[in-house]
Amino acid sequence: MRSILNEKSLKKKKILLRLDLNVPLENGKISDTTRIDKIIPTLNFLIQQKTKIIIISHVGRPKGKIVKDLSLKPVGDELKKKLNVDVKLITENIYEIKNKDFLEKFDEEILILENIRFYEGEEKNDDKFAKHLASLGDIYVNDAFSCSHRSHASIQQISKHLPSFSGLQLDLEVAALNKITTEITKPVTCIIGGSKISTKIDIIKNLIPKFDNIIIVGAMANNFIEYFGNNIGKSIKEENCVQIVEEILSLSKKKECKIIYPEDVLVSKNLNGSPKNKDLDQILPDEMILDIGPKTINKIVNIIGKSKTILWNGPAGYFENPNFANGSIKIAKTIIEDNKSKNIFSVVGGGDTVSLLNKLKVVHKFNFVSTAGGAFLEYLEGKKLPGIIALN
Ligand code: 3PG
Repeated sequence: MRSILNEKSLKKKKILLRLDLNVPLENGKISDTTRIDKIIPTLNFLIQQKTKIIIISHVGRPKGKIVKDLSLKPVGDELKKKLNVDVKLITENIYEIKNKDFLEKFDEEILILENIRFYEGEEKNDDKFAKHLASLGDIYVNDAFSCSHRSHASIQQISKHLPSFSGLQLDLEVAALNKITTEITKPVTCIIGGSKISTKIDIIKNLIPKFDNIIIVGAMANNFIEYFGNNIGKSIKEENCVQIVEEILSLSKKKECKIIYPEDVLVSKNLNGSPKNKDLDQILPDEMILDIGPKTINKIVNIIGKSKTILWNGPAGYFENPNFANGSIKIAKTIIEDNKSKNIFSVVGGGDTVSLLNKLKVVHKFNFVSTAGGAFLEYLEGKKLPGIIALN
């Protein structure tokens, strides 16, 4: 992997810079800017080198269609404020930009191509699309570690058509995760939550041999709760997961890794509602699980207390509604307390989890914070990420 930091003669080069600017948006406003803040050093470096920066990023999952609410406009405005340079959002259809000379006419230091997932070719890792994208720049830089587990055109295929480099933030994340995986101290507990069930459920199986405890919370736990014969009402879940849940449970026995899932939950009839604490067999068909309950919190606090390393990815509940933030807040506070008193090592990853810790103003109290969610877990699993392979 060659880092862009070591490259000489970048002056006037058009840099296609893949970033993960998939920030949380609430009514068109960015509610957490961590992913933007983290890539400021890369942008400053490229500005100092007098390059022309063309940012490529996605936000959300528009699935190949233009979705107005998923524009990168708010991100462009934020970058302008933070860097104090001119930023232009290019809204033209990429296919209508015939070559890189088109971009020459803009004087702005930073150009941002509109949400790359508005194009079907992106998630299909389509070579024609990647080639066309590549034709807009001279050099490709991947500074989106958190997207590097995706075999998408602007992450993987593009690197076949341009000299390709890693960015500063990607270098940092890979170095830190390498250190963590080689120097990990047991017992290790991994807490996995959040709502991206399909991304994470398969990963759990591969994490079992490496960890002593895996605590499953958030939406992913719903599949486990249902598997054990409980009604989960309107809660979100992944379809066709019985086999994977069985495999997880049977492998965990063989490898002596404890799988912990909620014993009680907080439910409501809708996302904006107020919470009701329920045992698992009391959930009604019109209710949805939105947080873990007090018995589950006690159990988790206990396990954290007996661990030397904690890896945490994904909130325990729908924390956007403060009524359902309690589980995640208690987990955060327990890790921080134990960090102080018992010197445990704590690593946290994922956009939503980092956003929650920022809201609580405690993000600096963790030993390492990764902006990556799925990519972070896959890296811990020992998988080679397609975006990283492409840079090698
Ligand atoms: C993330 O938020 O983890 C990255 O932006 C990747 O998003 P995705 O899970 O929609 O591919």
